[in-house]
Amino acid sequence: MKIIVDRKNRKYVVHDKEFHTEKGVIPEEDIINATVGDVLETHMGKKFTVIEPNINDYIELMKRKCSILLPQDLGLITAFTGIGYGSNIVESGTGAGSSLLFFANIVGPEGHVSSYEIREDFVEIIKENIDGTDFNNITLYNQDVTEGFKEEDNSIDMVFVDLPKPSEVIMDAYRILKTGGFIAVYTPYVEQFQIVNIVLGKAGFKHITIREGNVREIEIKNNKTRPNSRMAGHTGYITFARKI
Ligand SMILES: C[S@@+](CC[C@H](N)C(=O)[O-])C[C@H]1O[C@@H](n2cnc3c(N)ncnc32)[C@H](O)[C@@H]1O
Repeated sequence: MKIIVDRKNRKYVVHDKEFHTEKGVIPEEDIINATVGDVLETHMGKKFTVIEPNINDYIELMKRKCSILLPQDLGLITAFTGIGYGSNIVESGTGAGSSLLFFANIVGPEGHVSSYEIREDFVEIIKENIDGTDFNNITLYNQDVTEGFKEEDNSIDMVFVDLPKPSEVIMDAYRILKTGGFIAVYTPYVEQFQIVNIVLGKAGFKHITIREGNVREIEIKNNKTRPNSRMAGHTGYITFARKI
């Protein structure tokens, strides 16, 4: 995949064919021959730089049909569960694969991420999104996750849940987690985490905490530096708990 970016940080995926923008056309030959660091110019003089794509670029530009986890929440989950190179992760629902691909990138070739998605049409999109990467540490199940996780008892470092009714999988998550492993449950609404909280306690989880990943972006302008006035005010609540 080749990604080009303009001065305003607008990113585009380009394929090996002519690229059309409002500010002109980049010829097919220029795109085919372009390598990272090159500056491509449209016939109207608009410039784009070819960049080495990272996981955030890829997730931002990939296909999706549902809301996805954003970097601030993925960062929070990573930081507070301590997952890293070699971790074994299970997650559901897969959605578009944002959290799945982010975790696959974090755990690397020595780790593994299994993900469960109920919708066949979403699975087609997720497969396409996985195929656009080099990851071979992913298992995707087209399955109703409430039928049960396929993983063995005490084998998983972190279970991530992003489902409309997250409490339905909490008991089974406890079973597959190693002692010391974490569950992280993402819920947009207060009423959801209230139920999650109760079920986590019943399942035996300890150290239950709820965190939010609000990020304030500061706009830098000449003598007018201040927080961006059009920020997302809310993404979701993340409930963390540990199997002890
Ligand atoms: C908000 S999306 C997940 C987004 C995903 N975490 C991401 O970052 O791209 C929630 C997903 O859960 C799936 N889902 C809902 N109930 C499910 C179930 N019982 N089993 C498996 N997947 C389910 C939905 O089809 C939807 O794709």
